[in-house]
Amino acid sequence: MSSALSRRLLLDLASASLLLFGLSYWWLGNTAHEVAGTAMFLLLILHNVLNRRWWSRLPQARRETRGLFNTALTLLLLGCMLALLVTSIMISNALSGLLSAFGGFTVRQIHTLAAYWALVIVAVHLGLRWPMLMGAARGLFGLDRPSKARAWLLRAAAAAIAVQGVCSAFVLGLGGRLSMQVSLDWWNFEDSVAGFFLHCLAIAGLCIALTHYGRLTLRKPTGRTPRRPPAPSAIPDGEERPPAG
Ligand code: HEM
Repeated sequence: MSSALSRRLLLDLASASLLLFGLSYWWLGNTAHEVAGTAMFLLLILHNVLNRRWWSRLPQARRETRGLFNTALTLLLLGCMLALLVTSIMISNALSGLLSAFGGFTVRQIHTLAAYWALVIVAVHLGLRWPMLMGAARGLFGLDRPSKARAWLLRAAAAAIAVQGVCSAFVLGLGGRLSMQVSLDWWNFEDSVAGFFLHCLAIAGLCIALTHYGRLTLRKPTGRTPRRPPAPSAIPDGEERPPAG
């Protein structure tokens, strides 16, 4: 794996971690939450600068279903993050002197709604790039030979995480959060901090697994051996990745 790609993936890992931290508002408290959110938005701006070629090629994007889904999902993610950003500014304590008139209950609800949708959409965004991420992980661990046992072990782990993800979605009341239902039933961080993050990770894992295996299942059989994605190290900065999988 090239050092440029490892740096990019480290930035992506940091953005994803900050998103998770942001969700733990009642553990972090307001100041840390606002700092984490600001850092995440700065990293996401950088993320899109690094992926600028994808945006510049958007008008000529391939019209096949797979390309369209990726494009639609990325635009949805953009909308979700913009909603999160605008509502963050409106309800910010740090900016309350300037914008106190805008930070009502509904804006807070929209902020929470966008945050939980961001968790789900970012996970689908990762699921669409799973073969590339697995390729990077193989490179990192020096696993250059395919192994059936490893593949089945990973599939079993994915299945277990997906089952846990369904349970975690109920535990965190994800359905209510994604449909903007009013609830005062927040996770009690005094009981467990790690538990909250593990439930969020399991939900993300469920969405990643559904996206990745869903794509593999829907892929039309071509009768040819599918082309392996190029080694991640072969992809320069800002270059659009081939549809993975
Ligand atoms: C926590 C949030 C996010 C994470 C963890 C994440 C993760 C990733 C990863 C791992 C990749 C492939 C490697 C790379 O290019 O860095 C990627 C690509 C990309 N991401 Fe994100 N991303 C996030 C948010 C966003 C947002 C908000 C947008 C904009 C709406 C975005 C747009 C893109 C684009 C355009 C690509 C290139 C797509 C392609 O080559 O097919 N990402 N992202």
